[in-house]
Amino acid sequence: MLKDFNIKQYDSVRSTQDIAKAFCLEGSAKDMDIIVALHQSDGRGRMNRKWVSDYGGLYISVILEVKREVALWPQISYVAGVSVAEAISQLCTTSYPRLKWVNDILLQEQKIGGILLEAVEKFLIIGIGININNEIDPSSMPHAAVLKQFCPKIDRIKLLHNILLRLQNNYAVWLEDGFIPIRSMWLHLAQGISQSIKVAVGSQVHEGIFIGIDNIGRLRLMKPDSTIEYIEAGEMFFDTHK
Ligand code: BTN
Repeated sequence: MLKDFNIKQYDSVRSTQDIAKAFCLEGSAKDMDIIVALHQSDGRGRMNRKWVSDYGGLYISVILEVKREVALWPQISYVAGVSVAEAISQLCTTSYPRLKWVNDILLQEQKIGGILLEAVEKFLIIGIGININNEIDPSSMPHAAVLKQFCPKIDRIKLLHNILLRLQNNYAVWLEDGFIPIRSMWLHLAQGISQSIKVAVGSQVHEGIFIGIDNIGRLRLMKPDSTIEYIEAGEMFFDTHK
């Protein structure tokens, strides 16, 4: 049952992240407040990219007061990715969602959603964007697709409900039992384990074989000399997505 969330719904906003951020800064935000909009005029993604957010998509920001040390907060990214993938697979049984490190949501190797984490004061804001039946811009997102392509009967409200339910449960697991159970859920959903990848970290590119993530959430990259490199943050590319 969906119990703890307080959902605020909007028609069009600049960005649900901005609304959430304003609540955090003005002192009115509470743990588990949710901002949902039908449209964003200035949606943003990771790496300062634009997140095109026309009507028909799902745009959510979840405010959490994470009562754990800040160094662990990036693990919530995995909690959110797993929750979105589980929510989609429950409603869309014909296609199996995959997660591209760290939390791009893929269907048949095309990106249909993404997650952005932003910390503001004592809060963490999880931004979730899913392309459902909205226009997408192939020039800004070359490997993008919409969920309706794979799952024509998907219902936006049911998906929202399912995502929040999964998030509530998986977040409770993380708070109670830590990262290990989340790590194993994520590994089951991961795209590209054992494949050759490149990871861009700032201006540096690291190459090797993707061999999963470690017990604290760092990507494990096996180098040509068989040593293992641990990467905390960056952008991963498969050889087919150069
Ligand atoms: C990514 O780059 O893959 C992350 C995209 C995150 C988009 C969501 S949509 C809801 C929230 N509001 C925003 O402006 N961005 C996030």
